[in-house]
Amino acid sequence: LRVTEEERLAEIRREIQRVTEEIIGLTADRMRLSQEAGLIKETRGRPLEDIEVERRLKSAVRAKSVELGVDPDFAQRLLNILISRSVGVQRNVTSRGGTSPVSIYQQAKQLEKDGQNIIHLEVGEPDFPPPPQVIASLKKAVDEGHIGYSEPGGIEPLRRAVAEHLNDKFGIDLSKDEVLITPGARFALYLAASIFLRTGGGALIFEPAYPAYRRLVDIFEGRPNIIQATLEDDWTPDTSIVEDSISQRPDLMILNYPTNPTGKVLSDNTFTEILDQAAKKDVPVISDEVYRDYSFKTCPSILKYTDCRSIFISSFSKSYSMTGFRIGYAVASREDIERMTRIQSVSLTCIPEFIQRAAISALECEDELTANIGKIHQRTNYSLRLLEELPFICRKPDGGLYLFPKIDRPGFDGDKYATNLLEKQGVAVTPGSAFGDYQDYLRISLCQPEERLEEAFRRMRETL
Ligand SMILES: Cc1ncc(COP(=O)(O)O)c(C=O)c1O
Repeated sequence: LRVTEEERLAEIRREIQRVTEEIIGLTADRMRLSQEAGLIKETRGRPLEDIEVERRLKSAVRAKSVELGVDPDFAQRLLNILISRSVGVQRNVTSRGGTSPVSIYQQAKQLEKDGQNIIHLEVGEPDFPPPPQVIASLKKAVDEGHIGYSEPGGIEPLRRAVAEHLNDKFGIDLSKDEVLITPGARFALYLAASIFLRTGGGALIFEPAYPAYRRLVDIFEGRPNIIQATLEDDWTPDTSIVEDSISQRPDLMILNYPTNPTGKVLSDNTFTEILDQAAKKDVPVISDEVYRDYSFKTCPSILKYTDCRSIFISSFSKSYSMTGFRIGYAVASREDIERMTRIQSVSLTCIPEFIQRAAISALECEDELTANIGKIHQRTNYSLRLLEELPFICRKPDGGLYLFPKIDRPGFDGDKYATNLLEKQGVAVTPGSAFGDYQDYLRISLCQPEERLEEAFRRMRETL
């Protein structure tokens, strides 16, 4: 009997190898089909990704996995990895790398080096200096010798100062142990994503969105579950689609209000409705609130919502014009802060202490912050008036540092226009395609004084 069992085991192993090779063969077939689809999309000028097609494929796979008794969660991850590979293959055959604010910025910087006078409206980097107290504290900290290694999660006085700052602002009761100091909001996003996203996982993202969210999901070979908002709906996402996407149990959901690029702030009701849905299905939420100081109306915060697992993210970059300091923070439960701190410790050891000491004094600069907000608000109104003379349709942002107008010209191609505008007129803006399927939009950053904005709009008109 033992011999026959041994024989059976050997037979099973041969069979497993055969099935596995079949899976690889089928994967090769799938890649070939993707490549061919990519070439057709290229010649027909179709976008690489189609949210509806992807949604249908996902539900078909879910139904099939249930029918065949395969764990639907596993089937979904496998599918996400396959789709993410297909998108990669199609990018290669179509050589569409995608535009991003950073790629336009690099191109603009190169032109500047070559002697061109460029107006930078492509990045969200405030043109005003950091508060003078911040620079003074930075120098003092270096002089006092705060130049060695420090705690991986941030120095205690800064974590305490951030907790107190938020407690005052929101009437909450955070402790320093619920705060993690990070090198900018961007790294906080990476840490937050890495504790929630598993390989092949899904992430619910509201577009138009900051391009880094998709790139984060790419790192984990996951797929974004995209909820698209439209200008016609006042950039408010359809909550019934949100409910449907949440029911598929993505690994996480990312919110960003005020939104980069639209400047949208959700109503309290919509914000709470979305969070209630996430709480019901235990989907963790990352709320990137780096622009909340630049809200021109009341902006709800995840910090006031306690029913779901969440990570609040903010930064010193935008509010205090400290982009090059690379300093931001995350607020979460002690357990999640510990998880993120372990990754930060392994990858970075710690953040320079003199920068953290400078950040403490930034939190005391209320007057400078109020002046910065006033300046951006004034430029927003000024630019909206200038836009009226162009065929641009723009909703007044509720906050943030940008305008995101739709260009009212049939067949307008934001990528071509942005390239032309940069090369011929020396004005750098980001095409809407960087933020999702928004080819006929442009993102215009308001981080330039009014005279420069006026000049840029004049050149934009000429290029149209
Ligand atoms: C929505 C959003 N989150 C995060 C960041 C990054 O901020 P930081 O400079 O703190 O990394 C940006 C920068 O443009 C952003 O637009």
